[in-house]
Amino acid sequence: MKKLFGVIGDPIAHSMSPAMHNDLFDLYGIDAVYLPFHVRKGNLGDAVKGLKALGVSGFNVTIPHKTEIIAHLDKVDPLARAIGAVNTVKNENGLLVGYNTDGPGFVKGLESMAADLGSRSALIIGAGGASRAIYFSMAQAGIGRIDLYNRTTEKAEELVSSCPFKVESKVLSQESAEKSLAEYQLIIQTTSIGMVPDTESLPLSLENITQNTIVSDIIYNPLQTKFLKAASKRRATVQNGVGMFVFQGALAFEIWTGIFPDVKRMEANVLRNLGG
Ligand code: ATR
Repeated sequence: MKKLFGVIGDPIAHSMSPAMHNDLFDLYGIDAVYLPFHVRKGNLGDAVKGLKALGVSGFNVTIPHKTEIIAHLDKVDPLARAIGAVNTVKNENGLLVGYNTDGPGFVKGLESMAADLGSRSALIIGAGGASRAIYFSMAQAGIGRIDLYNRTTEKAEELVSSCPFKVESKVLSQESAEKSLAEYQLIIQTTSIGMVPDTESLPLSLENITQNTIVSDIIYNPLQTKFLKAASKRRATVQNGVGMFVFQGALAFEIWTGIFPDVKRMEANVLRNLGG
């Protein structure tokens, strides 16, 4: 029987996940379909019950449900539980099990650009949900040092102190982060600030970065945020959010099917969707 997969969220119409996963099902000859489901906040519990009753094989979870979904699952993987967010659910013999592939997906995307991550120092900008997934996953992956800068300092301090993985870490003010940018080989922008095109503001000035720094922005629409443009100008190596999106999808696909898919093909699919 054809297997059912999907993604639940609000809004959901422009999700690139259905095209990406349906293409992989075709490629690997898997008899399955992946559909977008528009689920509003108040309907999450009913939607999950319905998907379970229909025998869904697995689904992704996106905004605004990544945290609330946890209460509706039978089991949650320890990393996802620590992060406090689930983006991938698998039906394991009738039980819905939650995973987080956003953070590990980001780390895999980074590994595809840079070897020996363990010896590198990173600065993460932002302390929201995305930052938390990335910080915890990088700490688990053994990155040498991860400092944090956020507009609201207390949120960064809370994030660092709640991380279950041991990692050297400091919370910086904007001024000290800007001054010490040359100390980092990795700078990761996780705030939503670049999503509004042509916005004048950068979360912090990149004046002091060095040429060899990898500067990553998790935003993929636009493909080149103002932040990445400023980094390119200073001849840093830049990475947009397509990598994280593709690798979170690849890890979800692997959880569901046991196959780690062709990420180059997934990336091409996503770029076609974005018109890039
Ligand atoms: P997400 O789940 O996408 O990470 P979030 O949890 O709402 O979203 O977090 C948004 C992040 O973007 C936070 O770090 C937020 O900073 P504050 O904690 O100070 O609110 C950051 N952010 C959003 N708009 C910003 C802006 N205009 N300038 C600086 N930081 C901003």
